[in-house]
Amino acid sequence: MKSNSIEVIPSGGPVGAQIRGVDLSQDVDDETLARIQDAFATYGVLCFRDQTISPEQQVAFSSRFGELERLTFSQFTLPGRPDVLLITNIEENGRHIGIHDAGREWHSDSTYVPCPSLATFLYAHEVPMEDGQPLGDTLFVPAFGHFEEFDQDRQTLLASLKSIHRMDPRLVKEPGKAPPQAIHPVVVTHPRNGRKCLFVNEGRSVSFVGMDEEESRVLLRKLFARLQSEERIYRHKWRVGDLLMWDNVAVQHHATHDYTWPKHRRLMHRTTVMGEPLC
Ligand code: SIN
Repeated sequence: MKSNSIEVIPSGGPVGAQIRGVDLSQDVDDETLARIQDAFATYGVLCFRDQTISPEQQVAFSSRFGELERLTFSQFTLPGRPDVLLITNIEENGRHIGIHDAGREWHSDSTYVPCPSLATFLYAHEVPMEDGQPLGDTLFVPAFGHFEEFDQDRQTLLASLKSIHRMDPRLVKEPGKAPPQAIHPVVVTHPRNGRKCLFVNEGRSVSFVGMDEEESRVLLRKLFARLQSEERIYRHKWRVGDLLMWDNVAVQHHATHDYTWPKHRRLMHRTTVMGEPLC
């Protein structure tokens, strides 16, 4: 795959671009990879349409961006492949075969651990349809481009704050176990491109360190409203064969759960690049 065949088509908003001219079932040469990395750093969400890739090919491509998370204890990974997670509403014998309730609120992946995931890759095997239209869109907003727009006082305040991120207690499977949580700065410098990003999200951020709950709630609500502003949203309408990759520091996402089992089937394979402590 030669880099001169690659085309980057921006969505027109602050995040999202389509990459054309790359076949992910083949090895991607270093020059093409560098162009994809540049586009990723600029747009935060990239879509490769019409791909036919095996789990091994998805792992091979994702691994070019860093070490993959291996979920050795999850019952929702592909057999023998702890690095490929099933995101799906499919049930077999009355049981979910994958994670069926992911991402109902705006969030970045796994911010409740000390090293949140850096990048996520989702490959669409089955997309639910209704009246010829896809269901289960995934929405994205940028976390960059906000900090610079605040006045000096607000910048100083936000730069001094840390927030507590907690997993939704409803997702904790072992009864009685406390949900995992982690503390991160509210303003982080992106480890790969140096952009300042707001690192609080509606799904996981519960309060600020050293601030009472009510005051925290008020400030969080303001930040969420800003982050989720309609005009910054990129809405991804899925097609079978889409490989979508997103940057969990630069963007936040939200999954639309407008499909139901057994009428609709949605099956995605997810691979995730490990992150590092953010500062
Ligand atoms: C997620 O939030 O990681 C899943 C997104 C999706 O299924 O659209």
